[in-house]
Amino acid sequence: MERKIVVALDFESSEQAFELLDRVDSDLCRVKVGKELFTIGGPNLVRQIIDRGFDVFLDLKFHDIPNTVARAVKAASTLGVWMINVHASGGMAMMEQAKEALEPMGSDKPLLIAVTVLTSLLTEDLVQIGVAANPEDQVSKLAFLTQEAGLDGVVCSAAETRLLRSQFPKDFCLVTPGIRRLEDASGDQRRVVGPADAILNGSNFLVVGRPITRAEEPNEVLKEFNSAVASFR
Ligand code: C5P
Repeated sequence: MERKIVVALDFESSEQAFELLDRVDSDLCRVKVGKELFTIGGPNLVRQIIDRGFDVFLDLKFHDIPNTVARAVKAASTLGVWMINVHASGGMAMMEQAKEALEPMGSDKPLLIAVTVLTSLLTEDLVQIGVAANPEDQVSKLAFLTQEAGLDGVVCSAAETRLLRSQFPKDFCLVTPGIRRLEDASGDQRRVVGPADAILNGSNFLVVGRPITRAEEPNEVLKEFNSAVASFR
């Protein structure tokens, strides 16, 4: 089965993450480790999750000078993760060097994707940091830069997926958070999209956190997400 659902392990302890992992099937999903869990659990936690059979998206959003990011990406790749990301706003040289750092791994290298514009930033926030473009144009611009640097794709909000899919080929990976079924609470996500619509709009992978991690039967909810996604393959 093609695993398109990436479960966000947004937990404050390794124990909580393992409790969830005990209750979901690694054949049915991949998982995302972000800054909170990585800061607590570190590389050993990531290795243990991989040992349990899960593909890990290490969501650390590296953003620094090219040499530092390249070295960080290389270090992350030695953990055996499936996907890594950087900030596209770190620039072309930073992204190119990050990609080059993975080349020696050949076909074993993780997917390398970029964050364009954080979805928490509105037009006025961009103006404050000296970016005159509206968020959508800025997202496109940074996605093209990401493609030119040779990366595998971008993280994008469900609202941006359709536009980006019309601008980029199928193999340019779109990874989309903010996914909810009708019956799920949206939480702090402002614009949410259903799993089937996200796939129809052109997402390759859907990041789903609370609807699965807070469910009484996480594996059952995961199966429901998979069914919704499978109907549009
Ligand atoms: O619980 P929920 O499904 O909202 O979790 C979504 C996950 O995707 C979280 O880990 C969140 O940090 C991440 N994310 C997001 N929106 C973005 C980028 C990442 O929700 N624009």
